[in-house]
Amino acid sequence: MPVISILPSSVADQIAAGEVVERPSSVVKELVENAMDAGATVIEISLEDGGRKLIRVSDDGTGISSEDVPRALARHGTSKISKASDLVGVSTFGFRGEALPAIASVSQFEIQTAAADGEGTSIRVTGGQISPAERIARRRGTTVSVAQLFYNVPARLKFLRSARSEWRSAVESLTALALTQPSVRIHLSHDGKNALTLPPVSSVRSRLGAIWGGRYAEDLLDVDDVAGPIHTSGLVQRPADVGTSTRRGFLSINGRAVRDAGIARAVESAYRSTIVAGVRPSFFLNVTVPADAVDVNVHPAKAEVRFRDRWTVERAVETAVRRSLGTLDSGASLGFRGSSFSFRPVDLPPNPDSEILRPRNDDDSPLFVDNTTADDGAEYSTDVSTGSVAAPAQPIPPLFQLRHTYVAFEHEDGLVLIDQHSAHERVLYEQFMHTLESGAAPAQRLLLPLTLHLGPAEGEAFDSNREYLERLGFEVEGFGGHTLIVNTVPMPHQRFDAERCLRETLDSLTGDRVAGAAAKHERLAATVACKAAIKAGEELSQGEMRSLFAALRDTTLPAHDVHGRSTIVHLTWDEVERRFGRR
Ligand SMILES: Nc1ncnc2c1ncn2[C@@H]1O[C@H](COP(=O)(O)OP(=O)(O)OP(=O)(O)O)[C@@H](O)[C@H]1O
Ligand SMILES: [Mg+2]
Repeated sequence: MPVISILPSSVADQIAAGEVVERPSSVVKELVENAMDAGATVIEISLEDGGRKLIRVSDDGTGISSEDVPRALARHGTSKISKASDLVGVSTFGFRGEALPAIASVSQFEIQTAAADGEGTSIRVTGGQISPAERIARRRGTTVSVAQLFYNVPARLKFLRSARSEWRSAVESLTALALTQPSVRIHLSHDGKNALTLPPVSSVRSRLGAIWGGRYAEDLLDVDDVAGPIHTSGLVQRPADVGTSTRRGFLSINGRAVRDAGIARAVESAYRSTIVAGVRPSFFLNVTVPADAVDVNVHPAKAEVRFRDRWTVERAVETAVRRSLGTLDSGASLGFRGSSFSFRPVDLPPNPDSEILRPRNDDDSPLFVDNTTADDGAEYSTDVSTGSVAAPAQPIPPLFQLRHTYVAFEHEDGLVLIDQHSAHERVLYEQFMHTLESGAAPAQRLLLPLTLHLGPAEGEAFDSNREYLERLGFEVEGFGGHTLIVNTVPMPHQRFDAERCLRETLDSLTGDRVAGAAAKHERLAATVACKAAIKAGEELSQGEMRSLFAALRDTTLPAHDVHGRSTIVHLTWDEVERRFGRR
């Protein structure tokens, strides 16, 4: 007596449905993907009871001919691929021919479709049982209705959550798809009430504006970067805004909305040293990779992809986001954003050997080495965008110190304020990181060594950071018990107080007060930078302000300090004029 039997297709479909259809949002995703694959320009989605009672998706796409409808409802029935090699670089969302039969096997399903106006077909499927096709008159396009999802699978039905949470999940799925195709008009309604209308637009930014408001979208920063065959584009949050609103992460790979923890981490690491630990940035990115560099057929709900070379993709995304954070536009602004505000050609590579890193040499030199001349018209540099050499960078404008704390200047687009402490902290942080990574510390030998008496916690902090502190220039002799004898100290600037800096650094390292820097040496660089930077309330000379300005301009992330705050605030003329009622 044989013990193996071949399952009837209705049972096989139900089993397959278990993987494809988890909850109403999965149905929304599959049906909207089908509509988009069919070239729809308008998609209407209506849900009842969070989708538990009804999910209906209508489109104006190509429709299905009456001859093809039964095939569309059969397992492995697809118009999108015909052989295995078509899977490479498949440009449609669908490719398995699984979604419709799977959904139809666990619901009361109806499809009405027409490949040409007036020539429609309607078929009902109840729990996988297909009724005879009927001819109907309808416009070109397709409407699929899915009622009573899981009515015949009690085990699944039990796992559905409240209408509210199913609704939220469905909106999330739809949002991800809406962002991949901003030019498609989308209407969503719930229990007969209009919930969301997304007009066709030409950019992701506009689509985000339609979903979460113009202000939210306006505040995001553009990302657009090519690294070999990898193109990363989209929008990310400004560091100063991270943590102030719900965190949202939307990613698509070659236009396919997916989840990818590795890429999300790569985005987060691009924010290294610009945000505090524990907050996560929002991002809306599409990454384009060569078709054969990615396998889309690895997840039952097509929610993940596999990369041939994940590392390269992650690094490309990280670099792309990091580049955007390096623009001045990524700082905080009051009023309208997106102006071309920049005090250096965007993407000008920082020059670690620039003169601001030169050690102090004599007592009359300014706080920083001023690498600008008193009335320079322009500095010369390489313009990365055109590749032409000797394009003039913008000259340093007249600078004013306010409250002995801020450096102010007028810019074409508005009034700009630099926080002198935060800015100097950013400058020193990048300088120290360079020192820690390259190992070259310009140190000064002390005539009389410093002697520091440390408590147990500070001693511990010194011990565990000793290697890095020495690389920064704190050369220590005979650390034993509670006494530290310091022979050499770094000399980042004229007003630097080595003893105070070292004391405060060790004190700070005993708590966990500097966050946002992942690795130990980053944390140390951030702490020492904070302690070594000029403070608010210190008066600066013109020369000092100019060299601070020039040094900040040379950093990779000039607009952000190391604690998640802005170094720069700009009040645009637009905003000024609005406030004075001039517009
Ligand atoms: N809204 C639609 N408009 C036009 N054709 C459709 C629509 N929905 C489904 N089809 C047709 O029915 C076929 C089967 O759809 P189904 O979603 O089951 O599979 P698929 O999209 O090919 O692959 P996948 O299972 O990966 O989604 C599609 O290949 C397509 O030809
Ligand atoms: Mg499909």
